[in-house]
Amino acid sequence: MKVTASLLSLAVAVMVADAATVAPHSGTAVPLSFNPNHQRNFRKTMAKLAARYPQLGLHIPPKQVIVGAQDKAGTGKVPLTDVGPDSEYYGSVSVGTPAQVMRLDFDTGSADIWFPSSTCTTAGCKVHHRFNSVKSTTFKKDGRPWKIGYGDGSNASGILGSDIVSVGGIAVRQTIGLATNESTQFASSPEDGLFGLGFSTIESVAGVKTFLDNAIAAKAIALPVVSVFLPSVRKNGGQGGNYLFGGIDNTRYTGALTYVPVTKKGYWQVLIQDAAFNGKSLQQTSQGIIDTGTTLMIIGSAAAAAIHKQIPGAVNSTQEGGWLVPCSLAKNTKDAVSFKMGGKSFQVPVADLAWSPISNGSKTCFSGVQGGQDGLWILGDVFIKNNYCVFSQTASPSIGIAPLKY
Ligand SMILES: *[C@@H]1O[C@H](CO)[C@@H](O)[C@H](O)[C@H]1NC(C)=O
Ligand SMILES: *[C@@H]1O[C@H](CO)[C@@H](O)[C@H](O)[C@H]1NC(C)=O
Ligand SMILES: *[C@@H]1O[C@H](CO)[C@@H](O)[C@H](O)[C@H]1NC(C)=O
Ligand SMILES: *[C@@H]1O[C@H](CO)[C@@H](O)[C@H](O)[C@H]1NC(C)=O
Repeated sequence: MKVTASLLSLAVAVMVADAATVAPHSGTAVPLSFNPNHQRNFRKTMAKLAARYPQLGLHIPPKQVIVGAQDKAGTGKVPLTDVGPDSEYYGSVSVGTPAQVMRLDFDTGSADIWFPSSTCTTAGCKVHHRFNSVKSTTFKKDGRPWKIGYGDGSNASGILGSDIVSVGGIAVRQTIGLATNESTQFASSPEDGLFGLGFSTIESVAGVKTFLDNAIAAKAIALPVVSVFLPSVRKNGGQGGNYLFGGIDNTRYTGALTYVPVTKKGYWQVLIQDAAFNGKSLQQTSQGIIDTGTTLMIIGSAAAAAIHKQIPGAVNSTQEGGWLVPCSLAKNTKDAVSFKMGGKSFQVPVADLAWSPISNGSKTCFSGVQGGQDGLWILGDVFIKNNYCVFSQTASPSIGIAPLKY
């Protein structure tokens, strides 16, 4: 979704486009790049993984049609830089031949992949790496106009093209947005652009397939998943974060993953069965999305009020435009908010609700959970940095969730 809250400012979300308003459409064929490295043991790997993760409903392809597996494990890991701290996270993606490296914010709340074109000279573009399509021998013109807007009011526009996009060694031909104009918000953003991980139904241009669609179709990944470890400055200094395409890192979570069914393909939407404080139900339920592109948790007003009622000193400030909590909450080691999905409750310690001081040196902090999102709740990075998430794009998609292990 890209609703980036940054230090000392709070961008509270209003959804710009509900997936409900975007009609599903049949796809346009996008040529796929086949990987020359034939993977001998791909089928064996798939069989092992299928046995280990029955929830994924893996189809093990018959021997003769196995082509294009990326590498031994069919996985690609993209290390992340934690910006903000914990405001947003970006990783490097190679585009074109020879590769031009773009720093992209991976976003499960949108579907487009885009970055500035070398022809873009607006303030938002100028400070970033810009992709020069002329220098890429694999670039193909598309020419359709493209534009996107995000929940924090930022937007970008340009034209579509296609090229080889590679994340952690997983490479497919991908339709990309080349921005020729960006709103000024991007001038201060550390990343060059966005890497959407949502479903194709929310692509800005109808018929464009997502990277996951293409990687799955090309059998470039061993599992149809992208697994997310967002680190936290409080817990580990913000180190070691990554997106793992095609695999699940079972050293990163405790217990078993609970696979929560996706209720609607667009965003990664699920049913949030309850919100609780220290295990006590707050009698709140809603559809919601797990969104790596949104910094905070932005939920229904009543649910946000019910949570803050449990926190001494919490106030809803008209002046600051949201819920504030004492910064001393960061030292709280016993209390937690939780959200129930797929019958399991997943915690966020209240320490993570002391999100950032409202001004330099202030003892009052913006809360990590805000209200105002009375339709779809958004469980953003504050949730994900406490819970390992496996976005599984099978025929019946689901999100595997388990407490994160640092
Ligand atoms: C970029 O878009 C803005 C409107 O959002 C417009 O005012 C401006 O002229 C555009 N700049 C270019 C170079 O197209
Ligand atoms: C893009 O963002 C700018 C700055 O927030 C705004 O002025 C402009 O109206 C937006 N354009 C569109 C098409 O949403
Ligand atoms: C918090 O304050 C805003 C106005 O700043 C108001 O719209 C909202 O209803 C309030 N929420 C609660 C739960 O009191
Ligand atoms: C806060 O303090 C830091 C250094 O102490 C300074 O660099 C920064 O500009 C200050 N920010 C504001 C908004 O005053």
